[in-house]
Amino acid sequence: MQKNNISNSVIRRLPRYYRFLGELLNQDIQKISSRELSEKMRLTASQIRQDLNCFGGFGQQGYGYNVAELRREIGHILGLDKQDKMILIGAGNLGRAITVHIDFAKYGYELSGIFDSNISLEGIEISGIKIMHTNRLAEFCAENTPTMAVLCIPKSGAKEMVETLIGLGIKAFWNFSHYDIHYDHPEVAVENVHLTDSLMTLSYAARNQHEHSAEDAAAEPEIAGE
Ligand code: NAI
Repeated sequence: MQKNNISNSVIRRLPRYYRFLGELLNQDIQKISSRELSEKMRLTASQIRQDLNCFGGFGQQGYGYNVAELRREIGHILGLDKQDKMILIGAGNLGRAITVHIDFAKYGYELSGIFDSNISLEGIEISGIKIMHTNRLAEFCAENTPTMAVLCIPKSGAKEMVETLIGLGIKAFWNFSHYDIHYDHPEVAVENVHLTDSLMTLSYAARNQHEHSAEDAAAEPEIAGE
């Protein structure tokens, strides 16, 4: 399978395909045509064919897609069938919520260590994992070689922590810290998460939908009178 030329926008759609195909399997749907898939996912059929053709295409003319096979293949492309080690830094409200609610093993990672600079948290368990003080990071990383870190600490300490972690072999960051890692470290993989970006986007949609509805309502009598 060729993965090299897959565009970023296609990669960004793959998790949605993966999730959706999982829902189909839960409903015991074993095969689906690109037309049905497009209707359910609200993408065009040609968009779906184009996306899936990027890595060889899985559909068969007149048959459609084998749901389980397609999902397995997308999971493979996303690396979900691996189990690399990751650590989480910052065992506060956010770090705890992420640890409790996300089953990393399903997404190709084993959460192997949780660290916090607050010594009073040491030894407290979250989801069966004991919080360690950050002064144990170097020893832990040397022994366990995690490759990814989830960053749930304030922006103020993030730059220093990122430099430490890169020095310890971390190559990818799921970054909640609001520190722009890529600006200083373009060499590592980063996925920034800003929950409030999503809220602001929704805010725009909500307010403009209202304006559109008002405009549409105002325009309707004219249209009706034509
Ligand atoms: P919190 O105050 O409950 O927890 C922060 C934890 O990080 C504390 O346990 C603290 O001891 C630890 N910590 C601070 N500096 C550290 C360092 N250098 N190394 C290791 N541990 C350190 O805060 P909360 O609610 O968990 O949020 C954490 C951060 O995530 C905040 O700065 C917040 O702005 C950010 N955040 C980002 C969101 C996003 O969508 N990106 C959403 C919510 C919070």
